[in-house]
Amino acid sequence: MNKLLTVTISAALIGFSGAALAAPKPFEAVEYRKGIFKAVKWNFGPMGDMMKGKVEFNAEEFARRANNLAALSHMPLEGFIPGTYERSTAALPAIESDWQTFAAGMENFQSKTAELAEAAKSGDKGQIAPAFMQVARTCKGCHDKFKD
Ligand code: HEC
Repeated sequence: MNKLLTVTISAALIGFSGAALAAPKPFEAVEYRKGIFKAVKWNFGPMGDMMKGKVEFNAEEFARRANNLAALSHMPLEGFIPGTYERSTAALPAIESDWQTFAAGMENFQSKTAELAEAAKSGDKGQIAPAFMQVARTCKGCHDKFKD
């Protein structure tokens, strides 16, 4: 039984590492980062609805989504690789030519979402609202410069 399990796992890992070793194709990187941003929106949308009072504020759900967002903020950057600014993308070539600014925008996104996740622990809407606004500003600030 143990041996069979080991063989099965090894076989699975060989298949996986074969795929992981190949350099990501441009369309895979584009799909990857878009997928992350879809997940960002999936979490950020309901948080905004709660902030605006469109749906009832639920502290537990808000905190869970704030944690998701903070984790997601670390993921998109690696999907912005050379040769991925022409096709099926809203990402502008300025990302490549002004990489420092773009990367700094991602870092800002990470720290503001971490602050929001921290504020969300309070469960207090009054404390959460300014932290939420800060995050919303990082989205807009980056999109204005780097997204179609
Ligand atoms: C530092 C830059 C940056 C930050 C911060 C940022 N975005 Fe984006 N976002 C982008 C870029 C660039 C794209 C275009 C990706 C592509 O099409 O390849 C994008 C795409 C998107 C998309 C479209 C995904 C799709 O379906 O293709 C959504 C939705 C989105 N962002 C939401 C957000 C939200 C909400 C926030 C803040 C909570 C945010 N983004 C923060 C740069 C950023």
